[in-house]
Amino acid sequence: MVDTSQCFGAYKGRSVLITGGLGFIGSNLARKLVEIGGAEVSIVDALIPDQGGNLFNIEGIEDRVKLHIADMGDDYVINHLVGGVDYIFNLAGNVSHLESMLRPQRDLELNCAAQLTLLEACRNFNPHVKIVFTSTRQVYGKPIYLPVDEQHRVMPLDINGIHKLAAENYHQLYNRVYGMRTVCLRLTNTYGPRQLLSHNRQGFIAWFIRQALDGGVIELFGEGRQRRDLNYVDDVVEAMLLAGANEDAEGEIFNLGTGTPVSLADLASDLISLTGRGSVQPVPFPLERQLIDIGNSYSSYQKIETALGWRPRMPLSEGLARTVEFYKKHRTNYWEPNANTVSRSNAPTTRD
Ligand SMILES: NC(=O)c1ccc[n+]([C@@H]2O[C@H](COP(=O)([O-])OP(=O)(O)OC[C@H]3O[C@@H](n4cnc5c(N)ncnc54)[C@H](O)[C@@H]3O)[C@@H](O)[C@H]2O)c1
Repeated sequence: MVDTSQCFGAYKGRSVLITGGLGFIGSNLARKLVEIGGAEVSIVDALIPDQGGNLFNIEGIEDRVKLHIADMGDDYVINHLVGGVDYIFNLAGNVSHLESMLRPQRDLELNCAAQLTLLEACRNFNPHVKIVFTSTRQVYGKPIYLPVDEQHRVMPLDINGIHKLAAENYHQLYNRVYGMRTVCLRLTNTYGPRQLLSHNRQGFIAWFIRQALDGGVIELFGEGRQRRDLNYVDDVVEAMLLAGANEDAEGEIFNLGTGTPVSLADLASDLISLTGRGSVQPVPFPLERQLIDIGNSYSSYQKIETALGWRPRMPLSEGLARTVEFYKKHRTNYWEPNANTVSRSNAPTTRD
């Protein structure tokens, strides 16, 4: 296995911008870059209501990152921010599939229009910057074979998947037509510390964790037989750093994944054992969720393993234990909506 830490040197003395950097994955990436040291790390995040942006996510590193509370879709702001940057990790976007069906235009703004604004800013003001974009395995829709590899046909089942696929294509097109250095990663369900837990529209794992910690009922749609592969956030961060540092990744699309799917029912039972609390209850699939459900889905990560040497390292049991410990300690910062965000009108626009 490749020693992934060898790629960390690529970031020393470099300037890195993380869009969506107050969110779950972006803040874990910011923390890793600060830990590695030597990079100048900036974050742009609009603290969009009901998304995972949370000022507590950068607690302890706030003096070591430059924070810009701003919308990536604002070309005036983003034209200025991309100048002189060496790497952009582009995570800003709407994650919720259900939300995208309720507010499709909003999803279009965040997952398409704002992405084009960023790419245009880079084309005009920093065409040599390296851009790592986080897409989703949702673009495949219901798998026709498993594990899903990058050759699998794409047929997203919801608005979010369609827009993320369009955003991927924008990144690919700017690579092909303008020679820009973009790479797309198709993430599976990601879990770990600093994920939004205040509502259940941003994915099942965090909600299951909250229910277990609260001694609540974990509702299993369709008895929870769906099987998924779950990546721990540190593994995802490592894949992003490898993709950023490696020239061979440019113009490519890579799946992440684990190769070892787990059923939602087994995940719920693991969490109940781990916390000693909570119960499960099979419930009928709500129609609005069933219509966009991809069923069993797990991905092959063979391509990224061969090209960049990435493979997931965190066993599910340990990842879940670490995650549960984190939320036990910091529950007040995640249980209530916007517990640690600031109203956008009161927010500082930039902070060094
Ligand atoms: N979490 C997962 O399981 C998962 C799976 C597949 C793909 N992804 C992708 O990874 C990325 C990050 O996901 P996450 O789980 O960290 O989400 P998150 O909701 O925790 O973070 C997203 C952040 O982006 C910010 N944001 C959104 N639009 C913005 C804009 N126009 N300008 C500035 N900031 C903006 C939000 O305020 C939020 O802080 C997303 O693009 C998502 O589609 C995540």
